[in-house]
Amino acid sequence: MVERSETPLMRLIFLGPPGAGKGTQADQVAGALGVPHISTGDMLRAHVAGQTTLGRQASALMQAGELVPDDLVLAMLMDRIDAEDAAGGFILDGFPRNLPQALALQAKPVGAIDRVVAFIVDEEEVVRRLAGRRSCSHGHIYHVDDRPPLRAGVCDLDGEVVEQRPDDAEEVVRNRLAVYARETEPLIRFYESLGLIIEIKASGPVEHITQQILGAVRL
Ligand code: AP5
Repeated sequence: MVERSETPLMRLIFLGPPGAGKGTQADQVAGALGVPHISTGDMLRAHVAGQTTLGRQASALMQAGELVPDDLVLAMLMDRIDAEDAAGGFILDGFPRNLPQALALQAKPVGAIDRVVAFIVDEEEVVRRLAGRRSCSHGHIYHVDDRPPLRAGVCDLDGEVVEQRPDDAEEVVRNRLAVYARETEPLIRFYESLGLIIEIKASGPVEHITQQILGAVRL
C-alpha cells in the first residue's frame, strides 16, 4: 500500500496501450494522491452489465475491440468529472482515446490537465499480460501468474467473481492494439507539444513503477 500525502490539485491522464498497466497503476496512484480513478472502460463495462441504453450501444463494439462513439463517451465522462469528488483532481484512465476526445476535454475548464503519463511497454509483454489478466466487476485487477487473488477466482477486496474480460481474447487484443496505434498513440505527440508528457517505463515490479510515477507527477 502506498502512503497517502497531501498534494495540490492534480489532474492526470494515463495514456498507453491495452495491458500497459494503466488501471493497476491508477488504483495505486489515486490512493496515494487522494483523487478518484476514473476509467472509461470500467464505466462502460458497468453500463453493459446494467443493460442500460448506453451499455446496449457499446457492448458489441467493446467485444470487437473498437472504440465506442465519441458523443456517447464524452457525455458519460463529462458528467463524471463534474462530480464533487473530482473537484480536487482525478486520474483519467482510458480517456482521451483520440484527438476529438482530447480537444473536447481541453475545451472544458475542468479539463486543464497537469500531466500526461505515457506508459512505455513492448507489445509481447502486453499480449502476455492480457492473456493472464483476470478482474472482478468492480475493476479490481489480477494476473494468473504475477498477481493472483488469494483465493482462486475470488476478488480479495470485495469477494466478487474474478474472470477474464471478453475483449482479452487474443484476436480482439490484436485489434485493440491496432486501434491504439491508429487512434490513441498520436496523442503522445499532441500532449508533447503542450509540454505535458512524462514517459514511464512500465515493466518491472508494480510498486517500483508506482513510485516512479509519484516522483514524476509531484515534481
Ligand atoms: P479499457 O478498459 O480502457 O481497456 P484498455 O485501454 O485496452 O486497457 P486495459 O484495461 O486492457 O489495460 P491497462 O493498461 O489498464 O492494464 P491493467 O492495469 O489492467 O477499454 C476497454 C474498451 O472500452 C475499449 O476497447 C473501447 O471499446 C471502450 N472504451 C474505453 N474507453 C473509451 C474511450 N475513451 N473512447 C471510446 N471507447 C472507449 O494490466 C493488465 C494486466 O497486466 C493485469 O493482469 C495486471 O495484473 C498486469 N500488470 C500490470 N502491471 C504489471 C507489471 N508491472 N508487471 C507485470 N504485470 C503487470
